[in-house]
Amino acid sequence: MIHTTHTPPTWPEPMAMMVVPAEPESVKRVRDWVGAWFFDKERDTDVLDAARLLVSELFTNACRHAPPATNILVRVYHSDVGPTIEVWDRGDGRPAAKPLDETSESGRGLAMVELIAETWGVTPLPDGGKATYAVLATPSTTAAPTVRPSVAGHKPRR
Ligand SMILES: Nc1ncnc2c1ncn2[C@@H]1O[C@H](COP(=O)(O)OP(=O)(O)OP(=O)(O)O)[C@@H](O)[C@H]1O
Ligand SMILES: [Mg+2]
Repeated sequence: MIHTTHTPPTWPEPMAMMVVPAEPESVKRVRDWVGAWFFDKERDTDVLDAARLLVSELFTNACRHAPPATNILVRVYHSDVGPTIEVWDRGDGRPAAKPLDETSESGRGLAMVELIAETWGVTPLPDGGKATYAVLATPSTTAAPTVRPSVAGHKPRR
Protein backbone atom coordinates (compact mmCIF):
# COMPACT_ATOMS: atom_id res chain seq x y z
CA MET A 1 0.00 0.00 0.00
CA ILE A 2 1.25 3.47 -0.86
CA HIS A 3 0.61 6.24 1.62
CA THR A 4 1.35 9.80 0.70
CA THR A 5 0.13 13.22 1.65
CA HIS A 6 1.99 15.01 -1.15
CA THR A 7 1.03 13.52 -4.50
CA PRO A 8 -2.65 14.09 -5.16
CA PRO A 9 -3.99 12.36 -8.23
CA THR A 10 -4.72 14.01 -11.56
CA TRP A 11 -8.08 13.57 -13.27
CA PRO A 12 -8.02 12.72 -16.95
CA GLU A 13 -11.79 12.03 -17.01
CA PRO A 14 -14.82 14.19 -16.24
CA MET A 15 -15.73 14.15 -12.59
CA ALA A 16 -18.97 14.08 -10.66
CA MET A 17 -19.42 16.36 -7.70
CA MET A 18 -21.95 17.27 -5.05
CA VAL A 19 -22.13 20.02 -2.46
CA VAL A 20 -23.96 19.41 0.80
CA PRO A 21 -24.29 21.15 4.17
CA ALA A 22 -21.63 20.22 6.70
CA GLU A 23 -23.95 18.32 9.01
CA PRO A 24 -24.31 14.68 10.04
CA GLU A 25 -27.66 14.40 8.22
CA SER A 26 -25.73 14.68 4.94
CA VAL A 27 -23.67 11.53 5.51
CA LYS A 28 -26.22 9.05 4.15
CA ARG A 29 -26.89 11.17 1.10
CA VAL A 30 -23.20 11.38 0.30
CA ARG A 31 -22.60 7.69 0.94
CA ASP A 32 -25.48 6.68 -1.34
CA TRP A 33 -24.43 9.11 -4.06
CA VAL A 34 -20.83 7.85 -4.03
CA GLY A 35 -22.09 4.26 -3.94
CA ALA A 36 -24.25 4.86 -7.00
CA TRP A 37 -21.32 6.37 -8.90
CA PHE A 38 -19.08 3.41 -8.08
CA PHE A 39 -21.80 0.92 -8.97
CA ASP A 40 -22.26 2.61 -12.31
CA LYS A 41 -18.55 2.86 -13.11
CA GLU A 42 -16.96 -0.16 -11.46
CA ARG A 43 -19.63 -2.88 -11.21
CA ASP A 44 -17.63 -4.47 -8.41
CA THR A 45 -19.30 -4.88 -5.03
CA ASP A 46 -16.01 -4.97 -3.10
CA VAL A 47 -14.97 -1.64 -4.62
CA LEU A 48 -18.46 -0.25 -4.01
CA ASP A 49 -18.43 -1.25 -0.33
CA ALA A 50 -14.94 0.16 0.13
CA ALA A 51 -15.97 3.45 -1.49
CA ARG A 52 -19.00 3.79 0.80
CA LEU A 53 -16.89 3.14 3.85
CA LEU A 54 -14.10 5.50 2.82
CA VAL A 55 -16.38 8.40 2.02
CA SER A 56 -18.29 7.90 5.26
CA GLU A 57 -15.09 8.28 7.28
CA LEU A 58 -13.78 11.25 5.30
CA PHE A 59 -17.12 13.02 5.26
CA THR A 60 -17.79 12.46 8.98
CA ASN A 61 -14.41 13.96 9.77
CA ALA A 62 -15.07 16.90 7.45
CA CYS A 63 -18.40 17.59 9.18
CA ARG A 64 -16.74 17.52 12.57
CA HIS A 65 -14.10 20.04 11.57
CA ALA A 66 -15.95 22.32 9.13
CA PRO A 67 -17.04 25.73 10.44
CA PRO A 68 -20.77 25.99 11.17
CA ALA A 69 -23.09 26.76 8.26
CA THR A 70 -20.56 25.89 5.57
CA ASN A 71 -20.80 23.33 2.79
CA ILE A 72 -18.69 20.33 1.95
CA LEU A 73 -17.79 19.40 -1.59
CA VAL A 74 -17.42 15.76 -2.59
CA ARG A 75 -15.92 14.74 -5.94
CA VAL A 76 -15.47 11.34 -7.54
CA TYR A 77 -13.50 10.61 -10.69
CA HIS A 78 -11.07 8.23 -12.31
CA SER A 79 -7.63 9.66 -11.68
CA ASP A 80 -4.30 8.53 -13.05
CA VAL A 81 -3.98 6.14 -10.08
CA GLY A 82 -7.50 4.80 -9.82
CA PRO A 83 -11.02 5.77 -8.78
CA THR A 84 -10.69 8.71 -6.42
CA ILE A 85 -12.90 10.31 -3.78
CA GLU A 86 -12.22 13.84 -2.55
CA VAL A 87 -13.88 15.61 0.37
CA TRP A 88 -13.32 19.35 0.77
CA ASP A 89 -13.95 21.16 4.01
CA ARG A 90 -13.24 24.66 5.25
CA GLY A 91 -12.04 23.64 8.70
CA ASP A 92 -8.68 24.22 10.34
CA GLY A 93 -6.42 21.36 11.29
CA ARG A 94 -5.24 18.48 9.22
CA PRO A 95 -6.35 14.88 8.96
CA ALA A 96 -3.69 12.59 10.40
CA ALA A 97 -4.07 8.90 11.11
CA LYS A 98 -3.47 7.98 14.71
CA PRO A 99 -1.67 4.78 15.65
CA LEU A 100 -4.24 2.04 16.19
CA ASP A 101 -4.85 1.59 19.90
CA GLU A 102 -6.90 -1.47 20.78
CA THR A 103 -8.41 0.19 23.81
CA SER A 104 -9.44 3.46 22.15
CA GLU A 105 -12.96 3.94 20.84
CA SER A 106 -12.12 6.94 18.67
CA GLY A 107 -9.27 7.91 16.41
CA ARG A 108 -9.80 4.83 14.25
CA GLY A 109 -11.34 6.28 11.11
CA LEU A 110 -8.21 7.27 9.22
CA ALA A 111 -6.38 4.17 10.38
CA MET A 112 -9.14 2.28 8.59
CA VAL A 113 -8.83 4.53 5.54
CA GLU A 114 -5.12 3.75 5.50
CA LEU A 115 -5.83 0.03 5.52
CA ILE A 116 -8.51 0.10 2.84
CA ALA A 117 -7.41 2.79 0.38
CA GLU A 118 -4.67 2.30 -2.19
CA THR A 119 -3.44 5.73 -1.17
CA TRP A 120 -4.88 8.76 0.59
CA GLY A 121 -3.74 12.26 1.40
CA VAL A 122 -4.53 15.88 2.03
CA THR A 123 -4.14 18.96 -0.18
CA PRO A 124 -4.55 22.47 1.25
CA LEU A 125 -7.12 24.60 -0.57
CA PRO A 126 -6.00 28.02 -1.79
CA ASP A 127 -8.51 29.94 0.37
CA GLY A 128 -8.26 27.80 3.48
CA GLY A 129 -9.45 24.36 4.40
CA LYS A 130 -8.32 21.25 2.59
CA ALA A 131 -9.25 18.45 0.28
CA THR A 132 -8.82 14.98 1.70
CA TYR A 133 -8.67 12.28 -0.96
CA ALA A 134 -8.64 8.52 -1.07
CA VAL A 135 -7.86 6.36 -4.08
CA LEU A 136 -9.41 2.93 -4.23
CA ALA A 137 -7.63 -0.23 -5.11
CA THR A 138 -9.35 -2.02 -7.98
CA PRO A 139 -8.46 -5.21 -9.81
CA SER A 140 -6.94 -3.02 -12.55
CA THR A 141 -5.00 -0.62 -10.29
CA THR A 142 -1.35 -0.62 -11.32
CA ALA A 143 0.37 2.72 -11.77
CA ALA A 144 2.31 4.77 -9.27
CA PRO A 145 1.06 8.31 -8.54
CA THR A 146 2.34 11.28 -10.49
CA VAL A 147 2.73 14.73 -8.97
CA ARG A 148 0.21 17.38 -10.00
CA PRO A 149 -2.11 19.30 -7.68
CA SER A 150 -5.72 18.29 -8.23
CA VAL A 151 -7.51 21.06 -6.44
CA ALA A 152 -6.02 24.43 -7.39
CA GLY A 153 -8.60 26.92 -8.55
CA HIS A 154 -11.66 25.11 -7.22
CA LYS A 155 -13.46 25.91 -4.03
CA PRO A 156 -16.62 24.73 -2.33
CA ARG A 157 -19.45 27.22 -1.99
CA ARG A 158 -20.02 28.58 1.49
N1 LIG B 1 -11.28 17.03 8.02
C1 LIG B 1 -10.47 17.17 9.06
N2 LIG B 1 -10.07 18.41 9.45
C2 LIG B 1 -9.22 18.59 10.49
N3 LIG B 1 -8.69 17.58 11.22
C3 LIG B 1 -9.05 16.32 10.88
C4 LIG B 1 -9.95 16.05 9.80
N4 LIG B 1 -10.11 14.72 9.72
C5 LIG B 1 -9.37 14.18 10.69
N5 LIG B 1 -8.72 15.12 11.41
C6 LIG B 1 -7.78 14.91 12.52
O1 LIG B 1 -7.26 13.62 12.40
C7 LIG B 1 -7.55 12.87 13.58
C8 LIG B 1 -7.76 11.42 13.24
O2 LIG B 1 -8.97 11.25 12.51
P1 LIG B 1 -9.74 9.88 12.63
O3 LIG B 1 -10.87 9.89 11.69
O4 LIG B 1 -8.75 8.76 12.51
O5 LIG B 1 -10.26 9.85 14.14
P2 LIG B 1 -11.51 10.55 14.82
O6 LIG B 1 -12.34 11.20 13.80
O7 LIG B 1 -10.94 11.38 15.94
O8 LIG B 1 -12.28 9.31 15.47
P3 LIG B 1 -13.21 8.23 14.72
O9 LIG B 1 -13.00 8.38 13.25
O10 LIG B 1 -12.72 6.89 15.22
O11 LIG B 1 -14.60 8.56 15.16
C9 LIG B 1 -8.77 13.55 14.21
O12 LIG B 1 -8.86 13.31 15.59
C10 LIG B 1 -8.48 15.00 13.87
O13 LIG B 1 -7.59 15.54 14.80
MG1 LIG C 1 -12.95 10.10 12.08
